[in-house]
Amino acid sequence: MALPVLSTLRDQAGRLALQAAGRLTTPLLPDDYLALLDPLLSARWPAGRVQAMLQETPEATTLVIRPGRGWSGHRPGQYVPVGAEMDGVLTWRTYTISSAPGRRPGEPFAITVKALPGGRVSTHLARRVRPGTVLRLGPVQGEFVLPAGALPGKVLMLTAGIGVTPVMSMLRALARSGGHATADVDVVMVHSAPDAERTVFGAELRALHAALPWFRLYEHRTRPAGHLTVGRLSALCPDWRERDTWMCGPEAMLDSFQQHWQREGSGHRLRLERFRPLALLPPARAGAPGRVRFLRSDVETDAGPDTPLLDIGEAAGVLMPSGCRMGICFSCVSPLVAGRIRDLRTGEVSGEPGDLVQTCVSAAAGAVALDL
Ligand code: FES
Repeated sequence: MALPVLSTLRDQAGRLALQAAGRLTTPLLPDDYLALLDPLLSARWPAGRVQAMLQETPEATTLVIRPGRGWSGHRPGQYVPVGAEMDGVLTWRTYTISSAPGRRPGEPFAITVKALPGGRVSTHLARRVRPGTVLRLGPVQGEFVLPAGALPGKVLMLTAGIGVTPVMSMLRALARSGGHATADVDVVMVHSAPDAERTVFGAELRALHAALPWFRLYEHRTRPAGHLTVGRLSALCPDWRERDTWMCGPEAMLDSFQQHWQREGSGHRLRLERFRPLALLPPARAGAPGRVRFLRSDVETDAGPDTPLLDIGEAAGVLMPSGCRMGICFSCVSPLVAGRIRDLRTGEVSGEPGDLVQTCVSAAAGAVALDL
């Protein structure tokens, strides 16, 4: 392993060399040439190479991905936009990271993908991708995470189906740290799946249950018992009201259990992962109109301060990638080349060259250039 001081000097020398080379290679940056040599060398356009594919169930596959230079790691429970090239088009979706955070920078991480009926990208990733495939990676995000400090004394993990993935990352991190394996910590997991064969991570969860004194697993089988109900949960975990709860699963389950927690006055103990759009802010009264250049399309046009870049591009005839148009799927992300953008959900203005912009929920804050 490199000594820290040597490593720092080497990093500084590398940065200086890149800056110097940058003056010689404008308008392309040295990073762009590195990406041509190997996509994993690019820090501007983070990417990862699939190292292994693990079949978890007939529908779910884990992709072990070795990230390149631009990867900055994750917290257990977070998700990452993944871009896969399909028929020559880069298509983005978000996937929860199922592995524990790496111990060292650049260690592989894993996403676990269930092939959904009609799900073009999920089927591609779960069934067709092979080791060696390069995938683009967006910025890691998500607030459905464990607390940074001590874990609450009593915890309930309530999951169903592929909703197990963020909790699996948390459990793997907890099991590895050993720091929570004290008599003060008591983690109960209630997981619902159709049957044993279709329980993603079933064998590993049962092994954790057998090995860890602070962890208890209760499995609910929907075949033939039907969906997990509030009554069934109360029978499996009678003290659920006293537990800080992390819940992830299908929308219908989240809705019904969230209502139950709120009715019982325990809503403050519940954290859940829900891929729903945040509402857009009302139109800003201040804010000057901007101008957008779509560089690859060689199109330049005016941009209202509250109009999504996606709408502006489409109105100007630019072929814009898109999906949900609500800020959920990340199908619309495009690289920012210059300028600043306003997040129409939060009003926050940000932007550095190389940032991936969700064009459906971002407006121009002044002059903007996109790599489209
Ligand atoms: S996030 Fe889905 S289209 Fe923008």
